[in-house]
Amino acid sequence: MTSTLPPPEQPGLERARITARTLRTDRWWSGPALTVLGLTAFLVYGLARALQQDHYWVQEYHYLTPFYSPCVAGQCAPDAAVFGRLPWDFPWFIPFAVISLPLLLLFRFTCYYYRKAYYRSFWQSPTACAVREPHAKYTGETRFPLILQNAHRYFFYAALLISLINTYDATVALFHGAGGGFGIGVGNLVLFTNVVLLWCYTLSCHSCRHVIGGRLRSFGSRPVRYRLWTVVSKLNTRHMAFAWITLGTLVLTDLYVALVASGVLTDLRIVN
Ligand code: FES
Repeated sequence: MTSTLPPPEQPGLERARITARTLRTDRWWSGPALTVLGLTAFLVYGLARALQQDHYWVQEYHYLTPFYSPCVAGQCAPDAAVFGRLPWDFPWFIPFAVISLPLLLLFRFTCYYYRKAYYRSFWQSPTACAVREPHAKYTGETRFPLILQNAHRYFFYAALLISLINTYDATVALFHGAGGGFGIGVGNLVLFTNVVLLWCYTLSCHSCRHVIGGRLRSFGSRPVRYRLWTVVSKLNTRHMAFAWITLGTLVLTDLYVALVASGVLTDLRIVN
């Protein structure tokens, strides 16, 4: 009978020589399966919306979806392009937020939490504890292309900047109520909720924690940094939760703006 056992490895690094992929009897596959579903759904929705090039802006209340911010295409509604427009109309396959979207995608793609999530689910390296993975070799992130994951710290600075822009968008919308002055509608609450949670995700980043509290031998003479580091550390313990919550709030915020912009929904006004 032909053996189905994995090949022998270096002395001291042998794997357990069992034929079953795993002896676990719990639903160890549910986490990776849900991750695949969640991330795929977000990517499909985000791609479809980014390429739609429509229903991204509510002129009356100055609601701009985060998927189109900052809007830089030549076709952007003039008031939506607070940082100006490029002198060209974009073809259908280039998103109006062509500067920010790739940076945000790379920020999330290289995020420590998402790396764990998609290595386990999509790449199955490893799928779960005590479950044999389909790959014969494991080289970690020590070689090209995965060594590029180290660039995460730089994408963090880009994400900070984009969070500031999203905050600006949400703030500007407060001063475009029904009468042209200050006003609050459900859309404003949606935009601000999304912005607050985006800040929680961005500031809970491991790179942020390192920027604030790293490279120090002692916090003794740095009380401000210690305070900040304490706050960021608390957020950091919930980084995974913020990673998932913000995927949801990004979609809901975009959907709300799209529905109001297309006339399907009317924005309920609370003030003015
Ligand atoms: Fe997740 Fe930086 S955003 S670790």
